[in-house]
Amino acid sequence: MRLVRPIGILLALGLTTSVATLAHATYYHHQQSLYQRLGGKPAISAVVNDFVGNVARDHRINRFFANTDINRLKRLLVQQICAGSGGPCQYEGRSMREAHRGLGVRNQDFDALVEDLVRSLDKFNVPSREQQELLGLLGPMRRDVVQSRGYSSND
Ligand code: HEM
Repeated sequence: MRLVRPIGILLALGLTTSVATLAHATYYHHQQSLYQRLGGKPAISAVVNDFVGNVARDHRINRFFANTDINRLKRLLVQQICAGSGGPCQYEGRSMREAHRGLGVRNQDFDALVEDLVRSLDKFNVPSREQQELLGLLGPMRRDVVQSRGYSSND
C-alpha cells in the first residue's frame, strides 16, 4: 500500500509527458513555416547552389543564362524562396514578369528548370510534402516567366 501512491504518481507523470510529446509532435509540427521545415537559410542556399549548377549544365536551357550574373541570381533566388516560404527575408529583385521579359522562355523551358530544381530537392532529401509546397509557390509564376510575344495579355 505504501508503494502504490508513488508508483501511481510516476505513472501519471509519465502518461502526461507522453501526451504532451504527442501533442507537440502532431500539433506544433504543423505550426512550423515551410521555411523552418526546409531547414532555413543554410538549407535553401545549398539547394539553390546545386540547382543553379544543374541549370548551368542543362543544355536545354543554359543558353538563357549566358549573360546572367550568376551570383546575383543565386542571391535573389535564395531571398525569393526564403521570403515566399515564410522566412525572415525580403526579396530585392525585379518582378517575375519584368525579369523574364523578352527572354522568350517557353513552357518546355519552364518544365526543364523545374526538373533541375526537383533533382536538387531530391539530392538534399527534402520530403515530398515540402517539395510540393515549394513547387506550389513557384508554379503560379509560370504565367509571368513564360511570355509569348504578340499575345498582348501576357507579354
Ligand atoms: C518559377 C520559376 C522561376 C523563378 C522563381 C525564377 C526566378 C528568377 C529570379 C529571382 C531572377 C532574378 C530577378 C532579377 O534579376 O531581378 C530571375 C532571372 C532570370 N531568369 Fe528566372 N525564374 C524562373 C524561371 C526561369 C526560366 C524557366 C528561365 C529560362 C529557362 C529563367 C531565366 C532567367 C534569366 C535568364 C534571368 C536573368 C535575367 C537577366 O539577367 O536579365 N527563369 N529568375
